[in-house]
Amino acid sequence: MQTKLIRADEPTALADAARCLAGGGLVVFPTETVYGLGANALDEAAVRSIFAAKGRPSDNPLIVHIHDVRQLDGLVSAIPPMAQRLMDALWPGPLTLVLPRSGAVPDVVTAGLATVAVRMPSHPVAQALLRLANIPVAAPSANTSTRPSPTTAQHVADDLWGKVDYIVDGGACDVGLESTVVDVTGERPVILRPGGVPKEALEAACGMAVGTDPGLTKPDAVPKSPGMKYKHYAPRCEMAVVTGAHIQEGVTALLEENTGKRIGVLTAGPHQYANAAYTVDGGGTPEAYAHALFAALRDMEAHGVELIVAELPFGEDGLAPAVRNRIRKSAGGNVIET
Ligand code: TXA
Ligand code: MG
Repeated sequence: MQTKLIRADEPTALADAARCLAGGGLVVFPTETVYGLGANALDEAAVRSIFAAKGRPSDNPLIVHIHDVRQLDGLVSAIPPMAQRLMDALWPGPLTLVLPRSGAVPDVVTAGLATVAVRMPSHPVAQALLRLANIPVAAPSANTSTRPSPTTAQHVADDLWGKVDYIVDGGACDVGLESTVVDVTGERPVILRPGGVPKEALEAACGMAVGTDPGLTKPDAVPKSPGMKYKHYAPRCEMAVVTGAHIQEGVTALLEENTGKRIGVLTAGPHQYANAAYTVDGGGTPEAYAHALFAALRDMEAHGVELIVAELPFGEDGLAPAVRNRIRKSAGGNVIET
């Protein structure tokens, strides 16, 4: 397949990409979280080609992207009051709601579940494309399965060149990690995947306590969101995360134990380690770190790093739980407590 890389501000770029989407093609587009690999959610063959392009297991359902709440009519069978409050306050934005599905949604989108995940992105390019195509668009993150999610068009091209029709370049994504996935089919909202909307914002919006799927943290519980059980966000090299009260001592010790290796350090602030071959400053807040994380992993690979060591100092506020979730998975659970 011939891939066309287009800039969102070229004259007919979005109209061409929208026509391709509506006609069953694969179009990668920027969102405020990460780049998405889109296809017409109501076209079973088009959705199947998403799974083929990514090498994604077919039991991992997709998020359907919309630009107008009226599109929900054709996708879901009910909108619980708590879901309505979350949508009113936080859409468009990095929030995905898991709702009871309608019969019109093909099984291939939902992996046969009784629910469908829906999100309304706030990125102006995503909104414009969705409006022009005027169809619900199924879109996972636009990376090869198991790789770090893409936050620039270059990341997408590195993974999916020749496997998609269009890549729409809209610059670097703001948030840098994916949307918060919230199940609103029970008595109260439950976070199935932490992401771009913090728990505090969800609770303020719906006026009730929000739970977290025990499958996210308990080793013996199965996550309710199928995607959370897979290997994910992994760089091609080894990776370790250092957390706890003495992070810089922990990183220094790791550097000393691995002197033969080319080590890259993802720091949470502007400090340097003498033995590090390459350093990326993730910034001192969870938000800055979220923005830097996936790009840093790919950048380290490109610089021939053999072992990535990431500092993780954050508590529970803001995007900290999402950062912790992604980075633990990137490192395959190789987390060192200091
Ligand atoms: O920010 C995002 O959410 C990005 C952008 C492109 O919108 N998309 C994204 O999609 O991260 P993906 O496919 O990489 O992750 C979707 C997650 C997976 O963990 C999947 O299992 C879960 O959402 N999911 C989808 N439908 C679900 C459902 N009906 N019930 C539970 N989890 C669901
Ligand atoms: Mg993904």
